[in-house]
Amino acid sequence: MNERTGYGRIARRPQENAELTHVEFGTPMGELLRRYWQPFCLSEELQDLPRNIRILGENLVGFRDGNGRTGLIDRHCAHRGTSMEYAKIEPEGIRCCYHGWLFDVEGRCLEQPAEPPESKSKENVRQAWYPTHEYGGLVFAYMGPPELQPQFPEYDNLVGDDVVLTAYRNISRGTVAECNWLQIQENAMDPIHTAFLHQTISGTQFTHLFGDHGSRKLDFEETPTGMIYIRKSTLSNGAEYTRIAENFVPNARSIPDPYYSEESPDSEQSRLIGWWVPVDNTRTMGFHIERLRVIDGKPVPSVLAQAQEGRASGTQAARRTYEETQRQPDDREAQVSQGPIAIHAMENLVSSDKGVAMFRRRLKEGLESLQKGEDPMGIGRDPSNRTIHVAAGNSMVRN
Ligand code: FES
Ligand SMILES: [Fe+2]
Repeated sequence: MNERTGYGRIARRPQENAELTHVEFGTPMGELLRRYWQPFCLSEELQDLPRNIRILGENLVGFRDGNGRTGLIDRHCAHRGTSMEYAKIEPEGIRCCYHGWLFDVEGRCLEQPAEPPESKSKENVRQAWYPTHEYGGLVFAYMGPPELQPQFPEYDNLVGDDVVLTAYRNISRGTVAECNWLQIQENAMDPIHTAFLHQTISGTQFTHLFGDHGSRKLDFEETPTGMIYIRKSTLSNGAEYTRIAENFVPNARSIPDPYYSEESPDSEQSRLIGWWVPVDNTRTMGFHIERLRVIDGKPVPSVLAQAQEGRASGTQAARRTYEETQRQPDDREAQVSQGPIAIHAMENLVSSDKGVAMFRRRLKEGLESLQKGEDPMGIGRDPSNRTIHVAAGNSMVRN
């Protein structure tokens, strides 16, 4: 046992794991994240004004042209750098406020109004742009090498007859979470914190099933697209409850309905896909697409979508003061306070952290695929095989 005091610890402080956490262009994880479609805003957020977007450390502007097409382009105009957040939206594209150059959603320069009509100079200009795709109420971008653009995946929990999808920002760690994306993403593979943080420490934030320790048993398994945890417990009434949550490499996940109860169906697949999208190395934004429960032909509004800023659960009141966050800490306090970028070399991982360790290993495997010139897991190019199976869900065996 090390009996030293904290003296000298500052000098011994290790660096963060840059390989797994940093997201800028040219970094290993930045490259991996760029191989997947990433959500960057809600569909409803693209109205008649451009919107500043910062994602993976890049400053961009998102917009919807007058014909309804979405675009994501460099924030600075290719002419002389004015921010396109001040541009005007037109039917065919977006017009820079400074000298009126007009660009379409793929960055082509359609007009340079002050140039003579015979000028060909607009053909030599291309505003930097990324492909976009709208799905389920979110707008996604592909920011990787153009020749490697994958098909847009279809998660099998979001499709089917009479599916009603809703999309919203996940503001449970703040409107923008003030920390690195990975410490939030790997939280979903930490089945102990649900019992402790969300039940024992801060009172029942979801349902008491999270805290019913009974004879709890944890398993962690790899899947073709990432990994799952399987948490089984015997409830005090004798029922066997199983909760499976899932992380997709690198930054998507599926968590089962956290309000599942004894009254719920015996078995239900998760109705949610979420993403933790890096704004840059130390800030993160969250998005959910949720398939609404439909009862008697009517979609039931999402409870999670009602969550107040900084609250994980949609049933919890907002906290107004620092003292309230101390008395009832939530995911935001637990994860943002790990630091701007949690330092793995300072942790003491134990057996119940197996999910966190496994997820980091799965991310490394993704990085290794890139090094070998292969597609990382979950990337598809076969249109007849677009579906990603979601294993996450709740089930109960009643005795
Ligand atoms: S800076 Fe955009 S048109 Fe001149
Ligand atoms: Fe949590």
